[in-house]
Amino acid sequence: MKACINTKYGPPEVVRLTEVDKPVPKDNELLIKIFATTVNRTDCGFRSAEYFISRFFSGLFKPKNKILGNEFAGIIESKGKNVTKFSAGEKVFGYNDKTFGAHAEYMTIAEVAAVTTMPDGFTFEEAAPLTEGSHYALCDIRAAKVKAGQNVLVNGATGAIGSAAVQLLKHFGATVTAVCNTKNVALIKSLGADVVIDYTVQDFTKLNVSFDFVFDAVGKSSFGKCKPLLSKNGIYISTELGKNSENIFLALFTSLFDGKKVLFPIPTISKADVLFIKELAAKGQFKPVIDRQFKIDEIVEAHKYVETGQKTGNVVITLN
Ligand SMILES: NC(=O)c1ccc[n+]([C@@H]2O[C@H](COP(=O)([O-])OP(=O)(O)OC[C@H]3O[C@@H](n4cnc5c(N)ncnc54)[C@H](OP(=O)(O)O)[C@@H]3O)[C@@H](O)[C@H]2O)c1
Repeated sequence: MKACINTKYGPPEVVRLTEVDKPVPKDNELLIKIFATTVNRTDCGFRSAEYFISRFFSGLFKPKNKILGNEFAGIIESKGKNVTKFSAGEKVFGYNDKTFGAHAEYMTIAEVAAVTTMPDGFTFEEAAPLTEGSHYALCDIRAAKVKAGQNVLVNGATGAIGSAAVQLLKHFGATVTAVCNTKNVALIKSLGADVVIDYTVQDFTKLNVSFDFVFDAVGKSSFGKCKPLLSKNGIYISTELGKNSENIFLALFTSLFDGKKVLFPIPTISKADVLFIKELAAKGQFKPVIDRQFKIDEIVEAHKYVETGQKTGNVVITLN
C-alpha cells in the first residue's frame, strides 16, 4: 500500500510517499481503508521532535511509528476475530495517538480505541478533522470546569483547537469572547462567538472585562499578561509550555494557593469522547473548520503549511 513514512526526525522533507506492506489486523483490531486524514500540529510535533521531551513518547533517537496521521475517516475493510461492535463496510472516524498510521491507504486500530461510526451527512473530508482540535479543547474546558453562564475568552480562535473550543463552549452555555485576525472575524462569529476581538487592531489583554476562564488556544500570550483579566478564582490554560516551560511551574505554584490558577492538563481521548463529539456533530453543534485540502502525494506541502502556525482550522489530506 501507499504510505507516507519518516524514518528520522526533521523538517517536512523527511516525510516521503512510498510502498509498504499492508497492515494485518490483530484479533481485537479493525483494518480501515483510509479516505481522508489530516496533517495537524501533533503530526508536526512528532515529525520534528522540536520539543526534546516528545522523544520520550515518540522514540529517543528515531521515530517509533514511521507512519504519522492520528485523525482518520474511512471504511472498515476487515476485522479481527474477536471484534464484535463493528462490521466490514461501515464508515468510521476517530483518533489514534498511540500508534498513528493514518497517512497511508490502510491502518489498524483496536475496537475499543477512539473510533466510531461517522455522523450522518458527513463526508470523509468533514469527518477526518473531527477529533484533534475538539479533544484538546474538550480536555481543557473540562479541566476549567466551565459552567453555563460563565464568561470565557479564547485567544487563537482560528486554530483547530480554538475553533473547536468556541463551538464546544457555546454548547456548554458559556459566553465567549474570541480573539482572531481580521480575515476571520466573520468566520468566528459564525461559530457562535458572542464577542470577536481582532488582534490586529485591539490588544485583548487591555480589556476591562472579567473572565472565569482564559483559554490561550494558540499559546501566544501568557499568564502574566492575562492575569488582570481573570476573575477572583479564574483559570488560565495555554496549549503551549510557554517561555522556559513556565506554564508547568505556574500550574504547580498556583495550585498551592487560593485564587487565580494556571492549569496544564495532559490531553487524552477515549471512545466516550469520540461518541460525544459525534453526537454534537450529528446535532449540528460542532463542525470542524477546514482550510486547505491536499492529496496524499502533496504530504510535504501539507506539513510545510501546517508548520507556519497560520492555518485556519484544519488541513485535510485525501486518499483514493
Ligand atoms: N506539540 C504538539 O503535539 C501539539 C499538538 C497540538 C497542538 N499544539 C499547540 O497548540 C496550538 C494550537 O494548535 P492548533 O492546531 O489549534 O493551531 P493552528 O491551527 O496551528 O493555528 C493557530 C491559529 O492561531 C492564529 N494566530 C497566530 N498568531 C496569533 C496571535 N498572536 N493571536 C491570535 N491568533 C493567532 C493563526 O491565524 P492567523 O495567523 O491568521 O491569526 C492560526 O489560525 C499550537 O501552538 C500548537 O503548537 C501542539
